[in-house]
Amino acid sequence: DWTMHAYRQRAIDKIRAQVGKGRVLCALSGGVDSSVAAVLIHEAIGDQLTCVFVDHGLMRMNEADEVVTMFRDQYNIPLVHVDASGKFLGELEGQTDPETKRKIIGKLFIEVFEEEAKKIGGAEFLAQGTLYPDVIESVSFSGGPSVTIKSHHNVGGLPERMNMQLVEPLRELFKDEVRALGRELGLPDRFIGRHPFPGPGLAIRCPGGITAEKLDILRKADAIYLDEIRKSGQYDKIWQAFAVLLPVQTVGVMGDGRTYEFVCALRAVTSVDGMTADFYQFDMNFLGKTATRIINEVRGINRVVYDVTSKPPGTIEWE
Ligand code: XMP
Repeated sequence: DWTMHAYRQRAIDKIRAQVGKGRVLCALSGGVDSSVAAVLIHEAIGDQLTCVFVDHGLMRMNEADEVVTMFRDQYNIPLVHVDASGKFLGELEGQTDPETKRKIIGKLFIEVFEEEAKKIGGAEFLAQGTLYPDVIESVSFSGGPSVTIKSHHNVGGLPERMNMQLVEPLRELFKDEVRALGRELGLPDRFIGRHPFPGPGLAIRCPGGITAEKLDILRKADAIYLDEIRKSGQYDKIWQAFAVLLPVQTVGVMGDGRTYEFVCALRAVTSVDGMTADFYQFDMNFLGKTATRIINEVRGINRVVYDVTSKPPGTIEWE
């Protein structure tokens, strides 16, 4: 893409001019935005950049490994992988209120990130994958508290507290342009085309209390669902698709025994920007086949339902 090629050069010059010989930290989330920002900044200033990946234990199947492998092995970007799952799951234990769960995750994220930043001797700059719509959004909310959809990804409050300046090379771009820039930088298509994933991760797809066991069950169901979606060639038609593990057990039969296990809800929506969404119209055979696979392969789930709520009145996530 010719325009993106030019943008890449301009962005690199700008980053070099801003940062000079300074050090930059980037909180990598595994999402497209922070990844594209990190690769671009690395191209501009090399090892003056260190990425910190705070693994909260709320990622999907194999996700953390994939991110670490891609950045370390493929791009040679210095990356600190912090496994903080014990800390996050510990503090989330017994918490059932959606807002409380989000706040705990946001607070811990900042704490862990700050600790790691200190360990590596600090930095003058903090890189963020802020996009143009994020900028607009926080402006339109001005006057009230700064509520952004990406409350977790924006390590809000940190820059001031740690006396850091922001480096935001994607600030002028829309999502599709970030994807084009990612392709221009050589990120794999499969990675660039990934559905958005919320900062609080599986915590908001496990309504009510979270346990390691529930997360494990949810991960397996979600992986099967996404596998079926990819195999049927529908992945790119869908904005977001994921499984939700409900805090409800129902009775079922398996062989000649009675089961009493959790209900799994499947969600898939089409959308342009995530602000409104329609539920995705799967073929019933697809849903039946996927439900059968989930129930047969995942211990702990004996019933699957499909969410046919659009946004509004529903939200895309369940919490
Ligand atoms: P809702 O559920 O509000 O979600 O319809 C709209 C879009 O935002 C994502 N989402 C989040 N992303 N941190 C994020 O980075 C969050 O706390 C968060 N909550 C929702 C959601 O996945 C969807 O794409």
